Amino acid sequence: MDKIVINGGRRLHGRVEISGAKNAVLPMMAASLLAPGKYTIENCPDLRDVKTMSHLLRIIGAKVELSDHTLNIDTESSNFFEAPYELVKTMRASIYVLGPLLARHGQARVSLPGGCAWGPRPVDLHLKGLARMGASIELEGGYVIARARRLKGSRLNFDISSVGATANLLMAATLAEGTTVIENAAQEPEIEALSRFLINMGARIEGVGTRRLVVQGVDNLAPTTMENIPDRIEAGTFLIAGAITRGEVELEGAEPDHLSALLAKLEEAGAGVEIEGKKVGLKVEKRLQSVDITTAIYPGFPTDLQAQWMALMALADRSCLVTDTVFLDRFTHVAELKRLGADIRMDKNTALVTGREKLKGAPVMSTDLRASASLILAGLAAEGRTDVSRVYHIDRGYEKIEEKLKALGADIRREGETS
Ligand code: UD1
Repeated sequence: MDKIVINGGRRLHGRVEISGAKNAVLPMMAASLLAPGKYTIENCPDLRDVKTMSHLLRIIGAKVELSDHTLNIDTESSNFFEAPYELVKTMRASIYVLGPLLARHGQARVSLPGGCAWGPRPVDLHLKGLARMGASIELEGGYVIARARRLKGSRLNFDISSVGATANLLMAATLAEGTTVIENAAQEPEIEALSRFLINMGARIEGVGTRRLVVQGVDNLAPTTMENIPDRIEAGTFLIAGAITRGEVELEGAEPDHLSALLAKLEEAGAGVEIEGKKVGLKVEKRLQSVDITTAIYPGFPTDLQAQWMALMALADRSCLVTDTVFLDRFTHVAELKRLGADIRMDKNTALVTGREKLKGAPVMSTDLRASASLILAGLAAEGRTDVSRVYHIDRGYEKIEEKLKALGADIRREGETS
């Protein structure tokens, strides 16, 4: 297992290229199961989650190749419809193959994802939606077994806006008989990108990017080529890296529109922000002010940046509240940030963060993807050496993070761990 070693206290300075979005490419990869043939996705990040999804598609019978950020998928001879536990347990997004497999083959056997490091993450909305579309759903030996000769268009009204359920049911609805209306659909940019991918394949979707998606089912879809959108969470993490080290960074190839909630909060905290086309510049010269955040569905403040914001606020000038309303127990980073000297007190899903003048380096352990990012950010600002162990989590969602940070002037390296 690798660890990341950081000698903190260096001001970051320079440009960083933002990779393609992990959370957009994963459902697009699953969508390639809807129609046989050759697909190309450009600007695909080279990440562990992309490798896991590639592995899963290969098990299903597809050919997958990633070269120079171009992902080629050939589903011509994919004829298997099972997603095994060994893969699904390593990446929850594997559940994305359920809708496409069922829609195309009339059956699917997909392992239930199970919990996450920070708590349970149900898939009930995915299953209820498919059942409403006429599928029979059985749970057996930890697997979902879904069957439907042809799915039927239906009205789906989510109690909770779910990115995963919206993606799964949207894909399933493209090949259903008749019209499906998804109310309270997720309107995250990754869902908009998936909708465009499906439309390129011949799907008929109205309301793209809104809370109400209307899908007219078609008999057949065809393969397509599309460019992936930039990763807004990676972009946000690098902006916070610039801010926490009181540095000056410029993002290249980002989509500023997808970063509005974070940029507003950074400005409120006292950071200078400049936007020009796909470039976003950030400059911080003095200690930032403490600013509350509450995570919410898009376009609100993303839960995937909550842990990173908390690291930033651990060094801000006063106290503030960090509340997560999307995942109520996503706080495993708190105990580790405290090891670096952060003053954080939890009350249910809210953290009271009192900024300190300094954090001090220490060995810490990453517990999940975004928690790892928050620990690396804190380590960049802390005095002395921070070792972040179990960094395999970070490789799920950040491409070459230590190389990108090093290019910005950080003293950071990856080391092999013996235990
Ligand atoms: C996706 C993202 C993840 C992000 C999250 C919220 C991917 C691969 N992952 O996860 O990075 O943090 O959106 O923006 O894109 N829920 C249910 N039942 C369900 C499904 C969800 O109760 O069947 C609840 C969840 O517990 C959570 C809320 O709905 O409280 C939102 O979760 P959801 O949007 O589904 O997250 P994911 O799609 O798993």
